Amino acid sequence: MKNRIIVALDMKGLDNIFKIVDKLGDNAVWYKVGAVNFTAYSYKLTDFIHEKNKKLFLDLKYHDIPNTVKEAVYSACEIGVDMLTIHSVGGIDMMMAAKDAVKRFEDEYSKKGPTILAVTVLTSSTKETIKRDMFLDIDVEDMVLKLADNAKKANIDGLVASPKETQLLRKEFGDYFTIVTPGIRPKNASKDDQKRVTTPKDAIKMGSDYIVVGRPIYASDNPVESFNMIVKEMEETC
Ligand code: C5P
Repeated sequence: MKNRIIVALDMKGLDNIFKIVDKLGDNAVWYKVGAVNFTAYSYKLTDFIHEKNKKLFLDLKYHDIPNTVKEAVYSACEIGVDMLTIHSVGGIDMMMAAKDAVKRFEDEYSKKGPTILAVTVLTSSTKETIKRDMFLDIDVEDMVLKLADNAKKANIDGLVASPKETQLLRKEFGDYFTIVTPGIRPKNASKDDQKRVTTPKDAIKMGSDYIVVGRPIYASDNPVESFNMIVKEMEETC
């Protein structure tokens, strides 16, 4: 189960990040680096994760013209990223360009490229903000399903989805996608600024392949114990 936990490295300060990764040692396998810390620390951070033989999820949510996304994804492949995100609202051509980049990398280097995950509707969006900002009168769930269908048409490997969406997506697409779920809080943990949270056990039951957990691990007094408690909760589903 520990292979299914992705620890989000969102804390401030490179030294603090290094300390947590060292503390978690052999327990954690996957780490997620987002826009804030990749912008601040770039290769210093990604090189460190590789030196520790950990898997790297680069969560930069690419959204641009297809050629730019293709070249960005190719660069991510060369860094040695294992999983990365793009925005499905960038369109089918953009998503196909991202997949083309992975194929080019795999052909040139004869090794497996990263899993590409598409983000559908950000959890910060609502029916109202979609109407106001994108001029679309559509229910969030409907939009999630339509964007996931586009991702499938573009041959995208997986999706980032809330637990509620995960159930919906599993019903519609079965096991087709790898599903990665943030917004996870172990039993009794603080919700922080997350509005809708799910326990590790429920996320797995609802069909997530991987869960993303940040503050409940890195902001804990005992990150190793917190990590192992999450593994234990996930194992309750077996
Ligand atoms: O600290 P916490 O566990 O809330 O961190 C969750 C991580 O997942 C953060 O990196 C956050 O940006 C990311 N995320 C999220 N909700 C989404 C998409 C990504 O919390 N819908």
